[in-house]
Amino acid sequence: MKDLLKLLDLSKEEILQILNVADQMKYNQQHGLTHNYLQGKTLAMIFEKNSTRTRVSFETGMFQLGGHALFLSNKESQMGRGEPIEDTARVLSRYCDGIMIRTYSQEEVEKLAQYADIPVINGLTDFAHPCQVLADLMTVREHQSKLEGLKMCFIGDGNNMVNSLIVGGLKVGMEVSVACPEGYDPHPDVLAFAQSAPYAGKFRLVRTPLEAAQGADVVFTDVWASMGQEEEAAQRRAAFAGYQVNEELMKAANPGCMVQHCLPAHRGEEITAEVFEAHAGEIFDEAENRLHAQKAVLYLLMGGEQ
Ligand code: CP
Ligand code: NVA
Repeated sequence: MKDLLKLLDLSKEEILQILNVADQMKYNQQHGLTHNYLQGKTLAMIFEKNSTRTRVSFETGMFQLGGHALFLSNKESQMGRGEPIEDTARVLSRYCDGIMIRTYSQEEVEKLAQYADIPVINGLTDFAHPCQVLADLMTVREHQSKLEGLKMCFIGDGNNMVNSLIVGGLKVGMEVSVACPEGYDPHPDVLAFAQSAPYAGKFRLVRTPLEAAQGADVVFTDVWASMGQEEEAAQRRAAFAGYQVNEELMKAANPGCMVQHCLPAHRGEEITAEVFEAHAGEIFDEAENRLHAQKAVLYLLMGGEQ
């Protein structure tokens, strides 16, 4: 594994290896064990979109592993003035040991990785959010003691989150049911993956949230309008009315069903305040696990263990 660009690129074993290292990172931190696996190493973090969790978890993670993180806002660097990504890739490769990038286009991240000699980590694109979903799978396994055979449900927009949840969930042996309104389906490449062998029987895309939630062990949702879609917010509010995680929907799920949200959340839109607060413990465990999962990714990609 040289890069982490999307979960489609990873095998089940690679995903589980990251989750196992993440569990170990969490255990070590909780027991006061510190490690300088990344001493003297620098991660360049390029942000073309806002972030709280991704920036703080990567920056803190690098510090805790003995390394250093560099925040590069697109606007203030030469990228904002049009320097090509292939040149940025080759320059950063001469100074740094890894690059994390949050941007719009997946193709740009793939091109960055193609031209960089150092590992590239996708910190979110319009297509995928692999780092988040690694933390999500870690959290589900932590709470349910397994992943294989569990039923994951996603309610809402066919965006970066559901694209990565479908791939990650199916690869680790979960069943995945998704409810999206027509016109807001997951990416065609993800649907092609989910509808092919050996996953086809384990995946369902439906239009009715209650149908998707039937027998779920974990319900996921995400905002109706993602970063970059702010101008579509009103139109999306109309399209997604009813695609909400609320108490009625949770009654269709299994008893003890978890709720996960990558955050930030819009209470009263994709999730009610009641359901959010009833599951706040799990949701903030999920946010915390970004740190441990990111440290696992940094260690595996930049720490010398390939
Ligand atoms: N969930 C997530 O990626 O959060 P940020 O946008 O705050 O990084
Ligand atoms: N789908 C959301 C996820 C934010 C972490 C977005 O892209 O804005």
